[in-house]
Amino acid sequence: MRMILVGPPGAGKGTQAAKLVDTYKIPHISSGDMLRGAVVDGTELGKKADDFMKSGQLVPDDLVIAMVIERISRPDCESGFMLDGFPRTRPQAEALDAQLEKAGAKLDVVLLIEVPDELIVARITGRRSDPETGEIYHVEFKPPPAKIADRVVQRKDDTKEACEKRLEKYHSETAPIVPYYEQQGVLRRVDGDAALDQVTQRIMKTLG
Ligand code: AP5
Repeated sequence: MRMILVGPPGAGKGTQAAKLVDTYKIPHISSGDMLRGAVVDGTELGKKADDFMKSGQLVPDDLVIAMVIERISRPDCESGFMLDGFPRTRPQAEALDAQLEKAGAKLDVVLLIEVPDELIVARITGRRSDPETGEIYHVEFKPPPAKIADRVVQRKDDTKEACEKRLEKYHSETAPIVPYYEQQGVLRRVDGDAALDQVTQRIMKTLG
């Protein structure tokens, strides 16, 4: 299964990916997680990416493409992967296609999780995550258990201002890849405006 999750910030890509990888037994590759890891590690890539990320801008294509292509070329991706947050521009989508063609592989599905803009800021500003397990919570929709409530953290780009910029970038840069994949016949849409478990059920039904 070679699969891509697309959707606006806060659509639930990371939350749903964590459930799906258990079912499909494929690596979950989040470009956002990889970039945040590079920032924490202080690598050259992390230093270049940090300011773009904090302000809600996209990290330049050449940096992200090199990072993800290297990752999906590793042996654990031979029988599949779940990409989350990549591609999010047309050049990234074309670079992925070129790489897959070179490897004699094909995409199976691009899953678009659709959520109206007006729900996004509340989802993003209420998000918290557990640095020890990586589990994603929400102060209202999925509160962290009391025993870990003291250690959950908020992402630097989960402010209202950065979120609005990310949403703007989603519409200008990422939304245009939707018709690109629709034309290839691999796009599946899921309505993400529902409770977490209900969205999971919708995804499972869509994927069969
Ligand atoms: P990235 O980490 O990819 O962020 P994003 O795409 O903005 O997506 P999020 O992680 O914010 O949201 P999500 O859809 O995973 O939602 P989640 O499940 O957590 O990218 C961050 C930055 O890195 C970018 O801005 C850019 O700078 C850079 N970057 C990354 N990839 C790049 C690329 N390819 N090219 C260039 N730059 C790149 O859910 C959100 C919250 O909502 C959680 O609290 C969750 O509990 C809650 N929630 C989820 N589903 C529901 C539901 N159904 N009902 C109620 N609450 C819900």
